[in-house]
Amino acid sequence: MDGEWNNRFLCTMMPDVMACLRQDLAVIEPDFVLLTGDIASKQTKDAMYEARNLVESLEKPYYPMGGNHDFVLDESRSWFLDAFQHRLPRPNTFYSFTHKGLHFCVLDAWWQWEDGSLAPVSEAAVAAELDKTVENVRWQLPSHQLDWLVEDLARHPDLPTIIAVHYPVLPIPTRLHRPGFKNGGALDNGPLLMHILRRYPQVRAIFSGHVHMHYILTQSNVTQVVTGALPEYPVEYREVLVHNTHLEIKTRGLSNPEFARRSLIPGKEWTSGEVQDRSAIIPLTW
Ligand SMILES: [Fe+2]
Repeated sequence: MDGEWNNRFLCTMMPDVMACLRQDLAVIEPDFVLLTGDIASKQTKDAMYEARNLVESLEKPYYPMGGNHDFVLDESRSWFLDAFQHRLPRPNTFYSFTHKGLHFCVLDAWWQWEDGSLAPVSEAAVAAELDKTVENVRWQLPSHQLDWLVEDLARHPDLPTIIAVHYPVLPIPTRLHRPGFKNGGALDNGPLLMHILRRYPQVRAIFSGHVHMHYILTQSNVTQVVTGALPEYPVEYREVLVHNTHLEIKTRGLSNPEFARRSLIPGKEWTSGEVQDRSAIIPLTW
């Protein structure tokens, strides 16, 4: 379904985008692709499998992660686990893995309901409006995942670690705010997570999506890298080069610039971020 976030959000062009990305990744030859969530836009089992098949068409190893469009209904997580079982290190929506000495912890935030309770599924009224607005919707990491994360980090103190969670932990910086811009929000208990991560200096970065724009921010030992959505301008992804002493983050557009052109609403180029949002060096030593 197509719509408008800050620029035109063109889900219908995704088959063509993915075909182009497949060719582009064949040149870059990444070890794997990390999906930052909102893989399917509609909440049906068929939509989840359709999106899964598009990701498979890249012909690259990948790690999936759920977002607010993926984990909405009672059945959502079982569809996800079913569709991606062959790609998950364990049959769960949050998991960790180590690739060539770099450790990753992938998380699954839950919905904060209006009465303050936390649930894996959204309220019906929120689900009905999901494509239009997420204003006043909040997400949190449930305590069992924070406990799991702490235990996982304590077991791997020597491995540089990246946290992956769909919702940014550090909110969009005010320097990128524009009048009337749509702000998808940040993890509601992000400050608590940052407090925890400060005790684990091996955590070097957080990779997130959700807000359909690029930004990069560093706070204490952690660099938050937020990457825009592929169906929306600037139709770019991050390339992460892993060196002995540091990670190098680069931002790459598709070889066919037509997708970005179709999505752009003139004057809203700012979703591609400023210079400091488009590349970064993240030390892997501490
Ligand atoms: Fe999202």
